[in-house]
Order: sequence, then C-alpha cells, then structure tokens
Amino acid sequence: EKGDYRHFMLKEIHEQSRVVQATMEGRLTDRRVLEQALGTDAENLLQDVRHVQIIACGTSYHAGMVARYWIEELAGIPCSVEVASEFRYRKHVIQPDTLFLCISQSGETADTLAALRQAKEAGFRAALAICNVPGSSLVRESDLVIMTQAGPEIGVASTKAFTTQLTALLLFTLALARRNGLPEAEEADMVQALRQVPGQIDQVLALDTPIARLSEAFVDKHHSLFLGRGSQFPVALEGALKLKEISYIHAEAYPAGELKHGPLALVDSEMPVVTVAPNNALMEKLRSNLEEVRARGGELFVFADEAVGLAEEPGVHVMNMPSVHPITAPIVYTIPLQLLSYHVAVLKGTDVDQPRNLAKSVTVE
Ligand code: F6R
Repeated sequence: EKGDYRHFMLKEIHEQSRVVQATMEGRLTDRRVLEQALGTDAENLLQDVRHVQIIACGTSYHAGMVARYWIEELAGIPCSVEVASEFRYRKHVIQPDTLFLCISQSGETADTLAALRQAKEAGFRAALAICNVPGSSLVRESDLVIMTQAGPEIGVASTKAFTTQLTALLLFTLALARRNGLPEAEEADMVQALRQVPGQIDQVLALDTPIARLSEAFVDKHHSLFLGRGSQFPVALEGALKLKEISYIHAEAYPAGELKHGPLALVDSEMPVVTVAPNNALMEKLRSNLEEVRARGGELFVFADEAVGLAEEPGVHVMNMPSVHPITAPIVYTIPLQLLSYHVAVLKGTDVDQPRNLAKSVTVE
C-alpha cells in the first residue's frame, strides 16, 4: 500500500534509510563485517578468489559498476563488469579462480540467468547472487547469496533495490578486502562510514522541497547531461536512467573527463547539466568541467558536499549535501537524483509508477 504517499516510487525512495539499515543489520559489528553472515559457506567460497566477474542489467548493472571501483580499490582484486545481454553472446575467458557475481532485484531477469548458466559451463570458483527476492531462480542457482532487504519494490523504476544492492556489495567488498590485506583499522573506518549512511539518507530526503524546486527547470527541456567521476560516474548513469524512464526526457551520462571529447558540442542553454561532486581529490578537476559548461551558456545543477562551499552564481544551482565518506558517497548521492527525476515526472504528469513500454521484471529477452 502507498499509505500517505502519492506514488509507490516516492514511498520507496523514502524507505531507503530503513531498508539500507536492514540490509546491514546482523552483518556487521562496530569494527568489521561478519563474513559468516554472508552465508554459511562464505569462508570457503571466498577463499582464493582472484578475480570478480559481475553480471547484471539496467540499474543492477550500475550497482555493479560502483562495486568495481570498490573491489579494485579496497580488495586489490581485478573486477570486470558487463551487461548480461552482451556477456552471453560473446566468447569470453573465465579464469577458474573467478567469483561470478550476479546482481538482480527480481532474480528472474532472463539475460542474467542465461549468463550465469552459460558461465557455469565454463567453470569458475563460485557464484554469488545479490538479490531481493527469496526463492527466485537466481537465488536457487547460486552458491552464495546476499539478500538485499529492500522488501517488495512496486515502482517499475528501481530505487531502494539499488541502494540496498550497493550496501550488500560494500559488505561483500569489505569481506573480500580483509582477506586481501585491508588493514583492520581501515575496515573499521569503513564500517563506521556505512553505519552513518541511513542517517545521511534521511538528511538528503529532507532536501525534498528544494530539489522539487530545481526540477522545474527540467520540465520544458528535451535533453540533459549527467556528469560524474570515479565511483560517481555510475551514479550519474543511474540518475540519467531514472530521468529517462519516468519523465521521458533524454538524459545521457558521461564520465566528466569525456566532456570535451564530444558531448560539450551539445551544451547550450537548452541542455541542463547535472553533476554529482562529492568532496574528494577529483573535485578540482570537476571545477574545470563546470567552467566549460558555464562558458557555453549551459545551466548547471551541482550536488556537492557542503564542505566544498561551491557558490551559487548565474547559471549554477548548488544543492548542498551532507559530508560523507568517499566510499559510501555513491549510496548517498543516488538519493537526490531519484528525487529530482520523481519531481520532474510529477510536474510533467507522466505515469511515475508504470512508465510506458516498461515491465518490472524482464523475464524474456
Ligand atoms: C530501472 C530498472 C531496470 C532493472 C533491470 C534489471 O529502473 O528497474 O533497469 O534494473 O531490468 O532487473 P533486475 O535487477 O530485476 O535483474
């Protein structure tokens, strides 16, 4: 039931602090991830993993892209990510010490299941599923399962499934990283950062009114650009996907560094540019991107750490975000982009919960 919410999507956006909390519940102490809580056989199956191959579709694929940044940075293990429909139709090399990781809200996505079945024939160390539906085909066919605790997701556009997938993926990454030399103190630091995420999500949800105001600038636009660097690039992709799905505005996401390699040609006053810019080492580079866009009359919408102190100026709208740990930033920065597309869609009067042409679960190719 929608309760007091106008749409399931809005209700599900607002559930995120609770379900992210539920997804880490019982799987952490104050200082470490409890590996046994990831599955009784986790210890054995994670032993000797030397490579991670992630497979998923759509929003779940974006979660996988974030995880690649985490896995390579924290565990120091090579990680590849591919959309299932590409993976299954090409020849590939799977090393025997590979952990095959499928991410799926429904656990019934045809391409993802087909990729898993095909990879099984090639042989790999173990199949891990990150999934939201108990008893789904994906759960039944995997060796190890980390359930996201998002609860049923009714809105076709995925929201809480994504942030709980990220939470589960970070738990998994920390377990893998410890086996590969991540110092205890660093794990403790990241566990603390993760525990702060539900509170930070609530802080961002409180920005609903100013974000709704920003959304007015998008209603009469036909195109938009989303930029992010590092682990915020997949967040930009996910933000663009949400806007496309529910408001039918063409939205493209680019790694910010690619801007001058092509998309800058599109930028003018009719092309709003959304940037996710947390306060880390990449911020300075992002500043120059902002200049490039502004110089061409583009309107910029920047979601940035309040500590950066970016100033509003003509053509630059700044939404101040709470300060977050760089590792957990992708989870927190997803929220304002969900709210932005939600409000644009409401203003446009589209069917938020049931976008045209889309189905909740894609069980056929
Ligand atoms: C986007 C969306 C889809 C799904 C995709 C995979 O909002 O919901 O892109 O993420 O169809 O679905 P699952 O995760 O069920 O495999």
